[in-house]
Amino acid sequence: MLQNAEQTDVLSRIPGPLLQWYGKNARILPWRDAPTPYRVWVSEIMLQQTRVTAVMPYYERFLRALPSPAALAAVPDDRLMKLWEGLGYYTRARNLKKAAQMIVEQFHGDLPASFDALLSLPGIGSYTAGAVASIAFGIPVPAVDGNVLRVISRVLASRADIADAKTKQHVETALSAVMPRDCAGDFNQALMELGATVCLPNGQPLCEKCPLAGLCRAHKENLTGELPVKTSKKKRRIEARTIFVILNEGQVALKKRAGTGLLAGLWEFPCADGALSTGEAREYLRQNGITLEEITPLAPAKHIFTHIEWHMTGYLVKAAAQTGGFTWCTLAGLKQSHALPSAFRAYTKIAERELKSPGN
Ligand code: ADE
Repeated sequence: MLQNAEQTDVLSRIPGPLLQWYGKNARILPWRDAPTPYRVWVSEIMLQQTRVTAVMPYYERFLRALPSPAALAAVPDDRLMKLWEGLGYYTRARNLKKAAQMIVEQFHGDLPASFDALLSLPGIGSYTAGAVASIAFGIPVPAVDGNVLRVISRVLASRADIADAKTKQHVETALSAVMPRDCAGDFNQALMELGATVCLPNGQPLCEKCPLAGLCRAHKENLTGELPVKTSKKKRRIEARTIFVILNEGQVALKKRAGTGLLAGLWEFPCADGALSTGEAREYLRQNGITLEEITPLAPAKHIFTHIEWHMTGYLVKAAAQTGGFTWCTLAGLKQSHALPSAFRAYTKIAERELKSPGN
């Protein structure tokens, strides 16, 4: 463990080689060519818990549909969910809209140029406030996410647990002291970029490509495989569910989830708790008003949320009529107006295939 003065000395040698490397290696990303506060904010929210490659197709489409905080503040929830469909973690979208409404009411429709004011908005924590403040407004504050924590833990050969909020605060304070005042946004993005593309997790860092290898204590002491230290989270709860893709006359049965809790207010396929056998599935459908013509088991699927794992059993069902009180939806509806969360992706694909060419 390095002493404080030694830490500051090592950290103060980061900006030079890091910024030089970033100048040559920064990825061309859509929010980097015109970093308006709104564009940066939307990108940072999308990038929370989602990789750059997964965000790309959503980003420009979202901004074309909702080009300003005012447009976002006024968007109907269904349309918002449809624009977000597949990105997951839907609370992010709901918070974006709430924050946009506050921006319209309290800040005349423009994101505030202040770290503290940004922090007061829903969905914005110290990382996102730091990223928007530094990238969009040039305010010299750090933006410490998991990538940055990994880079700094390795550079300092620190064994502090990066799952501990105190470690993050310590890194924020330490970086505040050494970050260049005139290019804070580039400095923060360069650290994130290094973490995302070179200082890779799980013992896979590409130290031979790293501009900080010369000063990195973990590299010197052969500790990159052990660092950073992260205590394991609580185990996820496993929920077994049975998903029914029920078809009739070119339409598929959907229902809306409850207004609160996991995936609140989104559409889903009819489903039951537990992994039902075919016999149990027949009985469940009968009790729920569906008259069966045919039932075929589908491959099981899994979806991992933050605290829960769904282990899904599926059935493809041909129904005799559109009974059961469901909403019946065409292929076009499935693609355009009814947001099905990515948790159902495996079964959504099957529904789309069946609606396109029944029986294939
Ligand atoms: N991850 C989150 N924000 C990022 C950014 N601005 N650049 C690169 N990776 C990121």
